[in-house]
Amino acid sequence: PAPGWSIDADVVVVGSGVAGLTAALRCAAADLRTVVVTKARLDDGSTRWAQGGVAAALGDGDTPEQHLDDTLVAGAGLCDEDAVRILVTEGPDAVRRLIGSGAQFDTDPSSGEIELTREGGHHRRRIAHAGGDATGAEISRALNEAVHEAGIRTIENALVLDLLTDAEGRTAGVSLHVMGEGQHDGVGAVHARAVVLATGGMGQVFSATTNPSVSTGDGVALALRAGAEISDVEFVQFHPTVLFLGSDAEGQQPLVSEAVRGEGAHLVDADGVRFMVGQHELAELAPRDIVAKGITRRMQEQGAEHMYLDARHFGAEMWEHRFPTILAACRAHGIDPVTEPIPVAPAAHYASGGVRTDSRGRTTVPGLYACGEVACTGVHGANRLASNSLLEGLVYAERIADDITAELPAAGAPVPVPHPEVPQYPLLPAEARLAIQRIMTEGAGVLRSAESLAEAADRIEAIHAEARGALAEHGKTAEPGTDTWESTNLLCVARVLVTAARLRAETRGCHWREDHADRDDEQWRKHIVVTLNPDRT
Ligand code: SIN
Repeated sequence: PAPGWSIDADVVVVGSGVAGLTAALRCAAADLRTVVVTKARLDDGSTRWAQGGVAAALGDGDTPEQHLDDTLVAGAGLCDEDAVRILVTEGPDAVRRLIGSGAQFDTDPSSGEIELTREGGHHRRRIAHAGGDATGAEISRALNEAVHEAGIRTIENALVLDLLTDAEGRTAGVSLHVMGEGQHDGVGAVHARAVVLATGGMGQVFSATTNPSVSTGDGVALALRAGAEISDVEFVQFHPTVLFLGSDAEGQQPLVSEAVRGEGAHLVDADGVRFMVGQHELAELAPRDIVAKGITRRMQEQGAEHMYLDARHFGAEMWEHRFPTILAACRAHGIDPVTEPIPVAPAAHYASGGVRTDSRGRTTVPGLYACGEVACTGVHGANRLASNSLLEGLVYAERIADDITAELPAAGAPVPVPHPEVPQYPLLPAEARLAIQRIMTEGAGVLRSAESLAEAADRIEAIHAEARGALAEHGKTAEPGTDTWESTNLLCVARVLVTAARLRAETRGCHWREDHADRDDEQWRKHIVVTLNPDRT
């Protein structure tokens, strides 16, 4: 539908996690008229669920160079080294600025220094945390407060639909579907000369995920429809230790942070055997693709639905002080980690790929930027290093704000007039979401093969063809609404994900092909970049 209302801004930021709010605060500080639009409430989204923390070379003896080395190893040959260097060298100051803006990290009571923990793939204690295991919640609180104090205009319950462009094809804002926000209800638009996508991930494309229900790949879908390049989308990270609630559990599942292993928890099978020992020099603290594979393999060997994380030796006091969120989540599901091992299994966690950007967060569409999980800056390669994501959100959001400030010197100048043509594509019914999730989990989950991916592709294409057929023949499409848009976006990301996963005939990082068990540097030390057809279908 055509927008029924519009507002003008210099910059519209889509999404309100660490990346979106950091970009918005810095744009507003540079006197740019900034509007934040977000699909649910301002503090919904993945940031507030982050447990482990933020990785940065803040500790004695640690250096950005060592952080770089660990990041490159985890990324399995596909990181952009320059992008990683930016991340690790600008990271420590970005964390200090975050602290300056009010985020309270845990400190060592005797020295007053920031307390640092370890996670998979890190050779040193490098992870700053808050509230024990509630780092994202504290960052979200601090940034939300800062946004309110700065008086930045925000629109909640606003699902972004499409990028608007002017007659010359330049970014001119976004169209939105807003619910329950008074004067801005229904389909409207924010006209702006720069759009920052910070919409987070796409974990909901799988049945079981650590991601909240809002993580439906909206930014990647929008960017594809706008003609942008998407890269590395086959590299979906499965977090090794997610609380196992049954093989039919669907939707968001409770995370058991890597920091629990960082503080000494052991992964064991039903016989109590520490099966990661001997598989990697870091055992349970190997990069997470290796641990997720180790767990999945042991589950297959033993015909088990899950493994166990044993941290009984922490004792009640440490559990309560250091991991209160995880302790409460386990107890809410009838498991007491103080007296019993925690049943865990891998679940979809993080999209290492996304909308392709350069080192200033620019996508391949002029005026469209992306940062945070939606983006593919090149820092994660084939497998993100634990706790690099909040850091990436901080560092690259600041770079985007600086680029916009430099590119749009005349703050407050007239905004472009968008082209009035509204794209037509079919909306899927809300129920399609479950079907897509099951297809993707069965065919494109933690372990993939040519056969499983081909079947997933056929089933996904059948859903797509049915929706297009209904639109072409009868002009019929599902009623516009958050749930129908989300299903439509999930289908869009599922299609590109399966396409890329079928092409990559090797095992690398978090892309695991049982029919191509080895890494193939000769053929595949390269990126798969996807765009939609010219008719954007
Ligand atoms: C965790 O706490 O294990 C998650 C950290 C991350 O995904 O980076």
